[in-house]
Amino acid sequence: MAKRGAAVKQRHARQPCRHGPKANPNHGIPSRLRLRYDPAQGLREGHIDAVAWDIYKAAHAALGSHRPEEALRLLAGQQAPDSPIWSKFACLEAECLTALGRYADAVSMLEQAAARGTSDYWVYYQLAVQYRLIGALDKAVEATRQAHARLGWQESADHGYTFTHDYFAANIPNWQTWFATLITAAPIACLEIGSWQGGSATWLLDKVVGPRGGRLTCVDTFEGSSEHAAVLAGLGCSLEQIFDQNIARTRHAALCHKLIGRSQDVLRWLHEERFDFIYVDGAHEAKYVIQDAVLSWKLLRDGGFLLFDDTGFEFPGRPEQNTHAAIAAFRTWFADEMEVLTPDTERQLLVRKCRG
Ligand SMILES: C[S@@+](CC[C@H](N)C(=O)[O-])C[C@H]1O[C@@H](n2cnc3c(N)ncnc32)[C@H](O)[C@@H]1O
Repeated sequence: MAKRGAAVKQRHARQPCRHGPKANPNHGIPSRLRLRYDPAQGLREGHIDAVAWDIYKAAHAALGSHRPEEALRLLAGQQAPDSPIWSKFACLEAECLTALGRYADAVSMLEQAAARGTSDYWVYYQLAVQYRLIGALDKAVEATRQAHARLGWQESADHGYTFTHDYFAANIPNWQTWFATLITAAPIACLEIGSWQGGSATWLLDKVVGPRGGRLTCVDTFEGSSEHAAVLAGLGCSLEQIFDQNIARTRHAALCHKLIGRSQDVLRWLHEERFDFIYVDGAHEAKYVIQDAVLSWKLLRDGGFLLFDDTGFEFPGRPEQNTHAAIAAFRTWFADEMEVLTPDTERQLLVRKCRG
């Protein structure tokens, strides 16, 4: 799903003040959002970053509360264009412009950030979103490749993968760490529930299964999830065709096994197999997630890893189906067989099976 929540999680490296001692970060900011600012002291070196970060948070909150104009006012002119945090501001400003229907302005804002050679993948990710909105799918595909390259996945561009809608990029930093330090089986048997256009599958083939050997089993209906109806209508070809093309472009297609159908049925066919890593990213309704979890648990080796995506996915109007309900129940019922490896604040939940 829209992995948009992955916005900015970290504070940024401190930057020297570029605005001089008289700059007032509260200028133009509504009083209830004003930041602590001591005009007598002025802005110390290093202070601007904290100020910029607070402004970013305030603008982000305003946008989240459907007040994009206010967010734009907060962001306006707050950062020198050569500051590293500028790319974050540019992305947020672009989101505000999009919320106001000013798509061309949003594209222009992000293209400027890209032209400066930013190493921030989020600029390219957002650019892909914007290109899609204006119907420039080829450009969206290229921007997604550029986002991947900045996340250390150069193969995406080198192999020419096509992702019209990427639901994977934001996971890459965590996956790099987990597969380097925790999920180290070699060869490795991986199972993926929900493959979409092959984002997580091609990364696994390029970075894990290909180098280590083993296999990747991908299960998908290739009909999209309930939230994908609008997206599928505009694709112009089937999900499965895009998936097949991307997998064929990896150097390891022979290690990938595609199974078409509902995971709640297909996983039963696999009862004689065992996996080191299972990724649950199919239907997000709680009634399906709980089935995927329980069926996967049986297929996981002792010491194997189960990863849930989008733990906070919500279904407005059907709150009983919110993904969290299934994951919370599963965690409670199987607590004596698992070690939880990620904090609840993460969008993905990684657990290790450890039966006594
Ligand atoms: C979020 S996408 C997967 C994204 C993919 N893992 C990636 O990182 O690129 C969810 C996928 O689950 C599939 N799906 C939905 N319900 C399913 C079900 N009951 N069984 C199998 N796949 C399903 C959809 O067709 C869709 O391709």
